Amino acid sequence: MAILKIAKMGNPVLRAPAREVPDPTQPQIRALVSDMVETMVDAGGVGLAAPQVHVPLRIVIFHPPAEPAEDAEEEAAEEAAPEVDPGQLTILINPRIEPLTEDTGLGWEGCLSVPGMRGIVPRFTRIRYSGLDLNGHPLSVEAEGFHARVVQHECDHLDGILYPQRMTDLRFLGFTDEFDRHPLSFAPAEEEEEAEAESEAEEA
Ligand code: NI
Repeated sequence: MAILKIAKMGNPVLRAPAREVPDPTQPQIRALVSDMVETMVDAGGVGLAAPQVHVPLRIVIFHPPAEPAEDAEEEAAEEAAPEVDPGQLTILINPRIEPLTEDTGLGWEGCLSVPGMRGIVPRFTRIRYSGLDLNGHPLSVEAEGFHARVVQHECDHLDGILYPQRMTDLRFLGFTDEFDRHPLSFAPAEEEEEAEAESEAEEA
C-alpha cells in the first residue's frame, strides 16, 4: 500500500485518453486499486481516476456520500430498489456511461487535480454506468444526483477531460476560499438536490 502522487492540471497524463484494462484480475491491477483507494482517502476525495495517479488505464474509484432522501415515500422507494448504496466504495474498470435522460443539472465540482478551485458544471441527472469489478465480473448501476455527477466526472478523466472543460459559464470557476468568502447571490444548483449544494467542497 502506498499513497501515490496526484497529477495536476497541465500534466499531459490528464489530457490523454486512457487505455482499456485487458485483465482486471491481474495482481498489479489489484495493487494499483488498493493504492488508489489509500490515495483518495488520504486526499479527502470522493473519487479518483487512474490517470490522476499517472497511470493511463481505464479505472475509476468513487464513494459518493449517500444523499438524504427527500421524504419517507422516496426513502421507501429507495430501499425497495436493488441498487448499489451510493455511499459505498465502487471500483469500476473499463466503464461506460449511458445517459437515461436528456436533462442536465448544475452543481459544484472540485477535483484533486485542480486543487483549491471549484466550479459549476452541468451533468446528466440520471445515468446508467457499467463496467467490470476487480474479479472481472460485469456491473451495471443506475445513478442520479450527486452519485451520477461523480461518476461522470471520474469517467471524463479517462478521456482526458477535466471539469472546467465541461463548464458552460467560466465566471463560476474560481478559488474555493473566494467562493466561501463571497457566496453567489443566486442558487446555481436549484435544479439539484439540497445535498448537491452542500457537497461543494468535495473533490474527485
Ligand atoms: Ni477529478
